[in-house]
Amino acid sequence: MSNERIVLLSSREIAKMRVAGKTAAALLDHLEPMIKPGVSTLELNDEAERWTQAQGAKSAPLGYNGFPKSICTSVNNVICHGIPHAKEVLKDGDIINVDVTPIVDGYHGDTSRTFLVGNPSPKARKLVNVTEECLNRGIAAVKPGGRIGDIGAAIQEYAEAEGFSVVRDFVGHGVNRVFHTPPQVPHYGKPGKGKKIRPGMVFTIEPMINEGTWEAEVLDDGWTALTKDRKLSAQFEHTIAVTKEGVEILTRRAA
Ligand code: MF3
Ligand code: CO
Ligand code: CO
Repeated sequence: MSNERIVLLSSREIAKMRVAGKTAAALLDHLEPMIKPGVSTLELNDEAERWTQAQGAKSAPLGYNGFPKSICTSVNNVICHGIPHAKEVLKDGDIINVDVTPIVDGYHGDTSRTFLVGNPSPKARKLVNVTEECLNRGIAAVKPGGRIGDIGAAIQEYAEAEGFSVVRDFVGHGVNRVFHTPPQVPHYGKPGKGKKIRPGMVFTIEPMINEGTWEAEVLDDGWTALTKDRKLSAQFEHTIAVTKEGVEILTRRAA
């Protein structure tokens, strides 16, 4: 992925990304009250699809490289790309990442949060809290003139200091009219390394943090990525735009 291929968005395009990002955050807000013991991941998927269509938007995951559903639902030891299913019913103590990407007027808003189902264990709560803080620290490391490696370095340093590991096999990505485009944004690495961060760049930061090993394994369905040791994994994701002053979070939860 060469530097030339990283697109810088105009302020007009960033305005469209802002609308898509707000829609994505609103979709997670809309699903949140449903996330309780007894709900199936398919019910979450179907409500997400219904709501998205009602906004006049499209679900980017549906049919993307053959992905069969409208959102990703990744429960407990699933790192990412969990496929919603009627037989997967949430129970007290689970953690679930819900990852949504509506397309609004051609532009993608990509965001995810990990939700607590009922009362998870203290170690599960700690993993979720540390993962959200990893995303916040990654965003805080974004500086025009800085380097992409600064982001992963900030995330890795904090996650490992808390006793957790950083997934290597999946990374953040540029996002605009295209769902996944350069740059790749690893959630591990060294400060000062990687491509230069420039105003107009729009990309996701989406750390996946594991309780045990960072190693992943993909099921025969071609999508579901599990932790190799079957311990817990959590993830949070925002789409951000680099500005002259710093960074704008396009998928921030409305106040
Ligand atoms: N939303 C995911 C991401 O954050 C991508 C999901 S691709 C899908 O990049 F095909 F699984 F939906
Ligand atoms: Co993403
Ligand atoms: Co996503």
